Amino acid sequence: MSKTPGLHVVVPWIPNALVLGPFCFHSATTFPKGCYPSTEDGFKTFRCSKAQLTVIPRDIPNDTNKLYLDYNHISFLPNDAFQNLPLLVELDLSHNAISRVEVGAFRGLSESLHALDLSSNKLVSVNKDVFSALKAKANLSSNPWLCDCTLQQLVERVELVAGTSDGIICDASARKEHIGKPFLQLVGDIDFCNIYKKTTDIAMLVTMFGWFAMVISYLIYYVRQNQEDARRHLEYLKSLPSKQKKSEESSTISTVV
Ligand SMILES: *[C@@H]1O[C@H](CO)[C@@H](O)[C@H](O)[C@H]1NC(C)=O
Ligand SMILES: *[C@@H]1O[C@H](CO)[C@@H](O)[C@H](O)[C@H]1NC(C)=O
Repeated sequence: MSKTPGLHVVVPWIPNALVLGPFCFHSATTFPKGCYPSTEDGFKTFRCSKAQLTVIPRDIPNDTNKLYLDYNHISFLPNDAFQNLPLLVELDLSHNAISRVEVGAFRGLSESLHALDLSSNKLVSVNKDVFSALKAKANLSSNPWLCDCTLQQLVERVELVAGTSDGIICDASARKEHIGKPFLQLVGDIDFCNIYKKTTDIAMLVTMFGWFAMVISYLIYYVRQNQEDARRHLEYLKSLPSKQKKSEESSTISTVV
């Protein structure tokens, strides 16, 4: 890996230099280190595999159909990372260290992109809106996924590459027994978004019970207060001369109290 491969071979050989000349001399100097273009099966391909990249390189030719950025050290996909690639059909970002994806990272690829490989990265949680307009089939295998409502909404939104659904394994979950299990098998039985709903229901129930308890306490207080009034009234009756009436009333006291 001493020089750009194209230059090394092409320069001494004049006929080839004439054919590839404009391409090589014009663009080769601006290509990111470790990247090279080719045409494979009629697709304009740009390969930057194992190029020690830490960010998405600039100056990728805007007519690229297939872009290989696999086996690098990319950790973050910013908004509009691929916006100047309107003809991109296939994007391979596998075997990187991607842990954060901004919501607009794939903006501009909605119509063209057919295949998106994000497997073998460090994805834990990704907003479903990242894939909102994408039609691409995605490989999301071999990431340290957090199995929760966010992931459920994500897999509802994205179309997975056939045969890769069992590769989405829970690395973390609110429930220990989910760890190590394929998320899509769990989603068949559990609604991860309804667990959340249930906790809000419980909160509602607790609040209602609180109000209920307050009403009951007030009623008890009210009844006690009335008993006090009744006793005072009876004491008044006791002080009246009629003995008969007094005994009659004292029997009512015992029933009331
Ligand atoms: C690529 O960029 C050139 C120069 O800016 C422009 O003329 C061309 O239309 C672009 N191609 C695509 C496919 O967007
Ligand atoms: C999906 O990604 C995993 C892990 O990188 C890989 O082994 C598998 O071959 C990929 N599947 C497809 C269909 O591309």
